[in-house]
Amino acid sequence: MRCKEVVCGEVDVMNCLSPSILAADFMKLGEQIALTEQSGAQYLHFDVMDGCFVPNISFGMPVLASVRKGTGMMLDVHLMVKEPARFIPDVADCGADIITVHAEACTDLNATVDLIKERELLAGVALNPATPISQLSYILPKIDMVLIMTVSPGMGGQKLIPYTLDKVRDLKALIAQKGLKTDIEVDGGINFKTLDKVLEAGANIIVAGSAIFSGDIEENTKRMLEMMK
Ligand code: DX5
Ligand code: ZN
Repeated sequence: MRCKEVVCGEVDVMNCLSPSILAADFMKLGEQIALTEQSGAQYLHFDVMDGCFVPNISFGMPVLASVRKGTGMMLDVHLMVKEPARFIPDVADCGADIITVHAEACTDLNATVDLIKERELLAGVALNPATPISQLSYILPKIDMVLIMTVSPGMGGQKLIPYTLDKVRDLKALIAQKGLKTDIEVDGGINFKTLDKVLEAGANIIVAGSAIFSGDIEENTKRMLEMMK
């Protein structure tokens, strides 16, 4: 499944939830992922950090390959690494469905996106809060998703930066102006208070870490999905 459905012969964009396992309890990872899947989450967000592009290290290929064996959800891999082109073949082999790279991390963004498309995977490009969307105006028709970082990348549990909502609105307008159906994903500080704001601004793929994995995972997932209808 992906966030585009054929409706009356036209491709329409739908809302999807992508729980971020960065906030999961890794001793119970399989169990906690299953709870989000059973509760209806369509995507699973997988944050790869290299301690260089962002000041933190998370997890990588062996974890991705194991998670792939245990879930049918769309594996939404967010590469917060310098020169992500180096890792795309391995990430693809481990079973990613969507690979998102940061525009700021690529010497040649076009060639990096080509590597993802060559593997027939969905290609996303992420922008840090202060990076303008104009950087993507020419490459937009070639990609499937734009990830607007609503916090600085590198850790969970931060507060959404309000001006990033304006970026989502501007991106939505740019996509419409070009007649495209590109997905808009938002990542960072999305919780039960901020969800309405990002949806209203035009995001349709919602990443949530702490809001899903703190407390009752099933209840949180169902409640978020209900708010996204
Ligand atoms: C931050 C990561 C996020 C993170 C979001 O760099 O890209 O995916 O897990 O966490 P919350 O939802 O807790 O802000
Ligand atoms: Zn992320």
